[in-house]
Amino acid sequence: MSILPAIVQRESKRAYLPTPVPAEMVAELINAFRWAPSCRNYQPWRLIAVQSREGVDKLAPCLAKGNEWAAAAPLAMIVYANPKDDATIDEKPYYLFDCGLAVQNLLLQATELGLRSHPTAGWSEPAIRAAFGIGEEERVVCVVFLGFPGTEDLLDPETKAKDAAPRHRKPADTWVTFA
Ligand SMILES: Cc1cc2nc3c(=O)[nH]c(=O)nc-3n(C[C@H](O)[C@H](O)[C@H](O)COP(=O)(O)O)c2cc1C
Repeated sequence: MSILPAIVQRESKRAYLPTPVPAEMVAELINAFRWAPSCRNYQPWRLIAVQSREGVDKLAPCLAKGNEWAAAAPLAMIVYANPKDDATIDEKPYYLFDCGLAVQNLLLQATELGLRSHPTAGWSEPAIRAAFGIGEEERVVCVVFLGFPGTEDLLDPETKAKDAAPRHRKPADTWVTFA
């Protein structure tokens, strides 16, 4: 098992082919998601796999400015949760943490399958709730867009520039200490 290459290769790019993601791949993504650890094993996450033309069209108007590229992705995973399903410890809401772990599983499995994946927070939560029948008491945590990689000529110049920017991380010695 060699997981580090997938961790490093995973990246948030923005150009997608319209080709649908095969059902077996969608099933593998969901399986990777569901095997995430969660605080007290509460598994507070809920998922809507948006893959129909109708669903993708309903999601497009919910996107924030700057995220218009996401409307071209043939698959989106809406991750949401009811904070009441949380295993709160010391007033820390672990449902968000648990959803994050599950999303990373999904992103890594997508990388393994040769799919592009991009987690986002740039959309209107009330609009997504209304479009997909998510209750007022639930929080939309993340929307992950997925599909086969497209070429950058599919993007507008501003989005193309964002995609061309080098990926970077703070050096570990700026935030890690050893005790
Ligand atoms: C919770 C979360 C929300 C994000 N929201 C957006 C978004 O709305 N639009 C966008 O273009 N990228 C979004 N990103 C992607 C980040 O910008 C990206 O992960 C970061 O720049 C690091 O790049 P990398 O994923 O290629 O390593 C989001 C990432 C996360 C984890």
